[in-house]
Amino acid sequence: MSRFLVLTSSAEFESHLATALGDAHEVQVLASEAAGGSPGHLLARNLGGAVDVMVFGPDIRTEQMLAMAAGLEHAFPDIVLVLVANAAPELMLAAMRSGVRDVLPPDTEAGRMRAALERAAETSRSRKQLASEEAGQKSVRGRVISVMSPKGGVGKTTVATNLAVGLAKLAPMGAVIVDLDLQFGDVASGLGLEPQYTINDAVTGAASSDAMVLKAFLSRHPSGAYAMCAPRRPAEADLIKPAHVTTLINQLSLEFPYVILDTAPGLGEEVLAVLELATDGVWVCGMDIPSIRGLNHGLEVLRQLDLMPPSNTIVLNFADKRSGLTVQDVEATVGLPVDIILPWSRTLPFSTNAGVPLLQDSRRDPALKGLRNLIALLGPNSSTPASKNAHRRDEKP
Ligand SMILES: Nc1ncnc2c1ncn2[C@@H]1O[C@H](COP(=O)(O)OP(=O)(O)OP(=O)(O)O)[C@@H](O)[C@H]1O
Ligand SMILES: [Mg+2]
Repeated sequence: MSRFLVLTSSAEFESHLATALGDAHEVQVLASEAAGGSPGHLLARNLGGAVDVMVFGPDIRTEQMLAMAAGLEHAFPDIVLVLVANAAPELMLAAMRSGVRDVLPPDTEAGRMRAALERAAETSRSRKQLASEEAGQKSVRGRVISVMSPKGGVGKTTVATNLAVGLAKLAPMGAVIVDLDLQFGDVASGLGLEPQYTINDAVTGAASSDAMVLKAFLSRHPSGAYAMCAPRRPAEADLIKPAHVTTLINQLSLEFPYVILDTAPGLGEEVLAVLELATDGVWVCGMDIPSIRGLNHGLEVLRQLDLMPPSNTIVLNFADKRSGLTVQDVEATVGLPVDIILPWSRTLPFSTNAGVPLLQDSRRDPALKGLRNLIALLGPNSSTPASKNAHRRDEKP
């Protein structure tokens, strides 16, 4: 049994198709307006299993059909596209170039139409088989780097967005940042993105079980990094449960060598859920007593729960000799060496406000060195997470 998604508002065509396919296959019909949206949204309306064939009915507007076909061909290559239309040779050529595999006149006799659609479904099955064989070969998971801190406002988003941009430069198409500050996330604003989709789109419908659909919901940053942005409104965050987050991170780690997680302050349920998957914890701490004590208590709790990631990096932010504290004080309280020091920087707030991470345009800045060291520590040439035990140290205040 194959699954056909049919775009048409023509009752006549719908009935002809029903005669052709009978009960032997699953058929879902969507009104022709659905052709005007995006491929991701179209497939999110699929109510059954994986779609094998998309049929464009004779009433779909040509421009919409061509755009949708091209989008589907790019994002969901295992779905075979069939156009039903009295197409002139030029239209036929344009349709084929957009990825349509077969063009059938609307009055094609039912038996012949069924045979043509079943051939299309067969092709889809072969494409899916090929894709799953390739996926089987790629069982290596990427690094999941979770940027966290018990206290708020200490620079998590700054560190996470710079990590995404810096790692994307070293591993083109290989880094994705996920905004897990579900209520008040600002990864999109920190990267200057206006996302078309958010995490809400990614955890529902076909995306939750299909990596190709999931990828269609990512936003692309000019550095080459991908971003899964937070919900647009805080209320939408309630729809996302820890199990959704776990599935999402799992899927992304099979597709990307680097999955960077920006998190909300504290050790909320999303953070606890992802800690089981994180290969690297990046702990950001300000140079003030509440922040340092907060980190110490947070790490204690995680050790008790046995949830510490295999590798951990401590980033001391807003480092300033005039704070009255030294790096040694911080290390003594936290019980771990400080790996990266980011001094107070005059330009960082501007970079946040402009939506351009420091590592995107390398102006001179006191925090650049620390950010580059962090990339070196976590990037492609670094040691594997489990074996990391040598701590790099910056010059200390
Ligand atoms: N080293 C620094 N020097 C100066 N300003 C900084 C530095 N690091 C971060 N900032 C600024 O501090 C502000 C808070 O940083 P950021 O948003 O990264 O923190 P956060 O930990 O993600 O906050 P939240 O807990 O609210 O998510 C931003 O305006 C950022 O530009
Ligand atoms: Mg933040």
